[in-house]
Amino acid sequence: MRSIAAATISLFALGALARPAPNQDKGVCLDNAAANKVANNFKALISAYTDEAAQEVLCTDVHDYSDSVITLIDSGCPSGAPAGSPLPFVPLGSATFDSLAAFEAGQGGQPNVTFNILNVWHSCEEVIVRWRSPQPNPYAGAPGSEPDAPSTSAEEPVTGIVVLETAFNGWNSAQPFLIDTVYSEFNSGAWLYDLGVYNPANCTANGKRSLHARMPAYFLNKH
Ligand SMILES: *[C@@H]1O[C@H](CO)[C@@H](O)[C@H](O)[C@H]1NC(C)=O
Ligand SMILES: *[C@@H]1O[C@H](CO)[C@@H](O)[C@H](O)[C@H]1NC(C)=O
Repeated sequence: MRSIAAATISLFALGALARPAPNQDKGVCLDNAAANKVANNFKALISAYTDEAAQEVLCTDVHDYSDSVITLIDSGCPSGAPAGSPLPFVPLGSATFDSLAAFEAGQGGQPNVTFNILNVWHSCEEVIVRWRSPQPNPYAGAPGSEPDAPSTSAEEPVTGIVVLETAFNGWNSAQPFLIDTVYSEFNSGAWLYDLGVYNPANCTANGKRSLHARMPAYFLNKH
């Protein structure tokens, strides 16, 4: 949940229309069809991005929180952007995007990525989506993406979960529920591998890591 201070600042800065009233105030809740529409709206922002789509489905003061995305932005660096990075460093734990304009500037520069919805759940005002991208890096030069690569299977799939808080926008609207806040986490380790940033040591076809030395005790206790 967003802090009251942040919400208050947004209202003063952008006006009440920027953030429609929470759903409870209107006595309405998401139904299955509306939740699926919100889930597919989010999918479109990742897999078929346009500024027009972002403006249609996001609140103007949308906030996006994702340490997974920040880890990609920072290429896993703990402090300071890596040399040559086109993007400024973002500290873990901060908002990834704090407005529609920031979302457009960030997401607009990204390639479209295959985004398969695996599950959709919803509460009155939140939509929860579990997703998978079988080939998250479309750039040539990434593992599995070279023109002469035998198949794309060398690229590691990325699986994630996102919680979308919505704001009611009116049943007569083309978008009855706008995305107001995004909490998104996914396997950025696999994605950094696909980008060629992370090169795990000792990966061979037959090689096996010493799992017992690395697995948390609660896994080992199961057998
Ligand atoms: C992403 O897909 C949209 C919709 O098909 C398209 O308009 C846009 O140009 C694509 N973006 C990139 C970077 O290819
Ligand atoms: C890779 O293998 C070498 C030789 O067995 C070992 O010393 C090293 O610790 C391994 N590295 C990792 C990250 O597992």
